[in-house]
Amino acid sequence: MRSSFPYLIVVTGLLTALATMSVCAQEPIAPIEPPAEIHMAKSALGKMLYFDPRLSKSGYLSCNSCHNLAMGGTDNLTTSIGHGWQQGPINSPTVLNSSLNLAQFWDGRAADLKEQAGGPIANPKEMASSHALAIDVLKSIPDYVTQFRLTFGDATINIDRVTDAIAEFEKTLVTPGSRFDQWLLGDADALTDNELAGYQLFKLSGCVACHNGAAVGGNTYQKMGLVAPYQTDNPSTGRFAVTGKDADRFMFKVPTLRNVELTYPYFHDGAAKTLSDAVDTMGKIQLGKAFSEPGNEQIVAFLKTLTGVLPEVTLPQLPPSAADTPQPQPFE
Ligand code: HEC
Ligand code: HEC
Repeated sequence: MRSSFPYLIVVTGLLTALATMSVCAQEPIAPIEPPAEIHMAKSALGKMLYFDPRLSKSGYLSCNSCHNLAMGGTDNLTTSIGHGWQQGPINSPTVLNSSLNLAQFWDGRAADLKEQAGGPIANPKEMASSHALAIDVLKSIPDYVTQFRLTFGDATINIDRVTDAIAEFEKTLVTPGSRFDQWLLGDADALTDNELAGYQLFKLSGCVACHNGAAVGGNTYQKMGLVAPYQTDNPSTGRFAVTGKDADRFMFKVPTLRNVELTYPYFHDGAAKTLSDAVDTMGKIQLGKAFSEPGNEQIVAFLKTLTGVLPEVTLPQLPPSAADTPQPQPFE
């Protein structure tokens, strides 16, 4: 394989040159970059923790229960199911490309992935454990103790290291290589005329004002219902819950549209079941526009080109519990 290296460098150089020279520079959407500088040991440990249901009180729910990596990093439910089959308050966003978000959660209440990962473990409506209990579980499992020692240099297990490792794994969950990115990088044949027309309509109608950048969203908070109010039974107030400012009522983090074909249902209340519905609602309440049926279809066709190459995640083998591991409590 060694002989192909110089060739690879030339190709990469060419792609980079194309990226800066051609279409890309003038477009409001940038291609997704492959993950940079991943700490491999930390990410491997983080993957184990991401899939380990023993971080929950029931021993049944893992991060992957609600952010299923076989289903676009979501649960495809209106709102999630938490401990004891509780109905969750809000739709579960995808973990794919979540490292590109300006902050985490619909209202941005966690600054980054590390801060976010501590939330669900101790949330009584989600995994319903406590940080102390989750750490006790991990400490009781000899293979985990070894993994933490190998990764961090000593055998200390605390929530800081747990969330650090999970966040490192989540950084690998980016999806470069979509057909749209191929087009951005100069491959004019990567999109059909219909998809390209959809992209033009997406731009000309003003969708890009809020959905832009590499994640096609994720970088600002915007009002849900800018030109006409959004009707919902969901009690979420958005960013207002964080800042207490009246101006932030119903301001939500603009969701990424990357892989949006896979992350249904849509909106914070999960009320839009199809992309066509979501596009229709967006047109009406954000832009005061009613799209024709072909127009709606074109935008949907464009949105589907944002599905990237999904990370190939092999299931980690989790070490067995020990005799003194705190027992799961699925029915309490
Ligand atoms: C019971 C279901 C459930 C479980 C389990 C769960 N989550 Fe979530 N997750 C959600 C929901 C619902 C939200 C949105 C909450 C909000 O915005 O208020 C969310 C939000 C997130 C976000 C923010 C994404 C964004 O775009 O803002 C990330 C990242 C995330 N979860 C990762 C994790 C990790 C890591 C774990 C395991 C430690 C986990 N989740 C466990 C349901 C769950
Ligand atoms: C003023 C800013 C703004 C404009 C303009 C806008 N959006 Fe949005 N978009 C948002 C916000 C904010 C949300 C999340 C709202 C919520 O769930 O409360 C959203 C959500 C979406 C979703 C659902 C994503 C998901 O995962 O739930 C789609 C699809 C979408 N927009 C497409 C479009 C299209 C297509 C247009 C143009 C017709 C458009 N948007 C225009 C701000 C905007």
